[in-house]
Amino acid sequence: MSSLSGKQGPRYRHTADSTDPYETIGVEKLTPIIGAEIFGVDIAKLIDDEARSNRQMDEIHRALAENLVIFFRDQHITPQQHLAFGRKFGELHVHPAAPNEGDPALMKIYADKDSPRANGEGWHTDVSCDLEPPMGSILYIKQCPPRGGDTLFANMYAAYEALSDRMKAYLDGLTALHDGEQTYRGLYSNYGVADKREYPRAEHPVVRTHPVTGKKALYVNRGFTRFIIGVPRDESDAMLAYLYQHAENPLFQCRFRWTENAIAFWDNRCAQHRAMWDYWPHTRSGTRVTVKGERPV
Ligand code: SIN
Repeated sequence: MSSLSGKQGPRYRHTADSTDPYETIGVEKLTPIIGAEIFGVDIAKLIDDEARSNRQMDEIHRALAENLVIFFRDQHITPQQHLAFGRKFGELHVHPAAPNEGDPALMKIYADKDSPRANGEGWHTDVSCDLEPPMGSILYIKQCPPRGGDTLFANMYAAYEALSDRMKAYLDGLTALHDGEQTYRGLYSNYGVADKREYPRAEHPVVRTHPVTGKKALYVNRGFTRFIIGVPRDESDAMLAYLYQHAENPLFQCRFRWTENAIAFWDNRCAQHRAMWDYWPHTRSGTRVTVKGERPV
């Protein structure tokens, strides 16, 4: 991988977020570029208490917009409260393939010594093969291995910003095909999940504009993007290989070390993630609630 440093200093310079203090939550950044741990929020209470909810919810929205992924530790919520927390951010998304825990919107996340695989082991944005891919995902891990099982997150605004002006000009206006077929067919057979006749596929801009922040983010990922439309296939392959390698630079990343009953809430419109399955033969288990998003533009 080529260095991002040059004679002029770092190629990517992160613009500092607003310095306005938060009033109802504590926000401690994991890195200057992505990720923050949130303090002073009890999600079980937040769901039941409208007055507290409105003020804290505004600040949670702001923390998500500024940090792309936010973390809450020591949360004790029921599956119904997990779903209710998700609904505060929008309508819930139902995964096209994965098994659930009783409710179609409550996705099962589980790996143990007998698992053939674990969820999310490669870099991806969730279900980007949907025409309207999810805006965000809220993962609640109840059981952790003694060590490992971290999740890595990467900032796709930063990845876009760090591209050269010539590369930005090349990508401007290009779209790519995202296809769930190769990703999902047979993937959950170990849970007894029967395959669907077909899985979603969609064409999305290679660079999308975030509907809340107005910032541009690189929007291709190894999990679902198959090719760039309108260029020869070998050019597309080479370009995607470069963009994936670029987007996976550790400079754009944070890594979250889970503790039991922690929650991660990430924005799929501007962040990618990957889960580490380095804890075999131990068990890691939880549920994910995913919030619907809009068509990328
Ligand atoms: C996922 O991609 O949603 C799984 C992430 C994780 O298990 O850490």
